[in-house]
Amino acid sequence: MAIDIPAIGFGLWKISTDDCATAVYDAIKVGYRHLDSACDYGNEKAVGEGIARAINDGLCNREDLWVTSKLWNTYHAQEHVESALKRTLADLQLEYLDLYLVHFPIALEFVPFDVRYPPEWVHDPVEAMPVMKPSGVPLHETWTGMEAMQALGLAKHIGVCNYNSGLLQDLMSYAKHKPEVLQIESHPYLTQEKLIRLAKHYDLAVTAFSPLGAASYLELDMAEAKESVLASSVVTAIAQRLNKTAAQVVLRWGVQRGTSVIPKSTGVERMRENISLFDFELTDTDMNSISNLNINRRFNDPGDFCEAAFNTFYPIYD
Ligand code: A2P
Repeated sequence: MAIDIPAIGFGLWKISTDDCATAVYDAIKVGYRHLDSACDYGNEKAVGEGIARAINDGLCNREDLWVTSKLWNTYHAQEHVESALKRTLADLQLEYLDLYLVHFPIALEFVPFDVRYPPEWVHDPVEAMPVMKPSGVPLHETWTGMEAMQALGLAKHIGVCNYNSGLLQDLMSYAKHKPEVLQIESHPYLTQEKLIRLAKHYDLAVTAFSPLGAASYLELDMAEAKESVLASSVVTAIAQRLNKTAAQVVLRWGVQRGTSVIPKSTGVERMRENISLFDFELTDTDMNSISNLNINRRFNDPGDFCEAAFNTFYPIYD
């Protein structure tokens, strides 16, 4: 049996440090109990403040929360995994994570905390032409480090993000403690059916990031407004029939197909909208017509953005 993650989480990517503590507090107040954090989001201290405030105000206890964070690319060497996780825990003001994930199957040269934290993608940002610096640390070494974190009780569960089927098959061949969660981009324009089927075959729970599709990438110039699945006539017709919003239909499709979803929003109304998915159901026909929107459109592709933003060609998907 795959582990039980709360079906709807609150995504923390791109929430500014100024807004983040309040957003986390509001999200918990609205009813979110699953928070999806990462070192690389640069806001873990503020996430920790939001959690602490919510617990102090009696909105929840630590045990009621599912807190996920992610190991950044520069900490893949076995000797760096523990200090990276401990830094995340200190920032979040927590004793343990519910889930620690390898953020990307991309190993970059180590950057010490006192040089830069979070270190992000390029090795030396002040160079005239900053580039990424691969470290050559193999993923099996990183996984050994992750297993040690689970054994120490610093992370109750461990898993990976952004792995494709080949990497997942390979990981299953050597993992002593099997990964329990796979987090991948998935929405109606990128349904990832084979990868999700493979993950389920291996009993992994699957979390879909960017579950609303293009919305997240408009501000980054990585998508165009016309690519929004929320405007698709298939989705809007279902939403109208059910008297729900397009976002609710798309998120419900994600949950109903057995993935957890982690939409981000800094607006309390949208937070509420995005978590209100359990008073309606999609029919099999609805589910199929939404799944049939798939066009394999990946918005979060290192093969594109690393070259555009970091002067480094670094594809991980074909
Ligand atoms: P905002 O924070 O302004 O609400 P992600 O894909 O990383 O989860 O981000 C979701 C994106 O979609 C954000 O840009 C967010 O913007 C927007 N968004 C969140 N909820 C909704 C919603 N219910 N309807 C439309 N857009 C939404």
